[in-house]
Amino acid sequence: MSNKIIIINGPNLNLLGEREQSQYGSITLKNLEENCTKKSKELNLELKFCQSNVEGELVNIIQDARKNFDGIIINAAAFTHTSVAIRDALEVFKKPIIELHISNIYKREEFRQKSLISDVVSGGIFGLGANGYILAIISMHNLLKNEN
Ligand code: DQA
Repeated sequence: MSNKIIIINGPNLNLLGEREQSQYGSITLKNLEENCTKKSKELNLELKFCQSNVEGELVNIIQDARKNFDGIIINAAAFTHTSVAIRDALEVFKKPIIELHISNIYKREEFRQKSLISDVVSGGIFGLGANGYILAIISMHNLLKNEN
């Protein structure tokens, strides 16, 4: 049976390809989703890919993931730096979580250098561009393989 994973994208990531290309590159969210779907299939993972600009919706998605998914990959975007609610929801998910950022948040403005979720996740990937999503899928595959 294949493992099920969810990739959760936070606010403004729907504008990838249009916003701050110097930080995020030119790939669109749709193309990113296609790349992630392809890699997941190769690794026999079932993938759900989603995005929301709404904090409460993200909390609901994370809560629901407890029932339906074996692992979460999350780019919480700006909520990484502000949302205790997202952090608390992630803490309840007792399975592997990977924190992901396209840019190197530690090389940017001071307010981005603090993540409220880093200490409730299994591990993180940052600063490696859109390819970080592919690396996160491979890492999640390894984490889940070691569990079984
Ligand atoms: C981001 C970094 C965040 O600081 C920012 O608010 C984003 C994207 C990244 O992927 O590099 O929206 O999470």
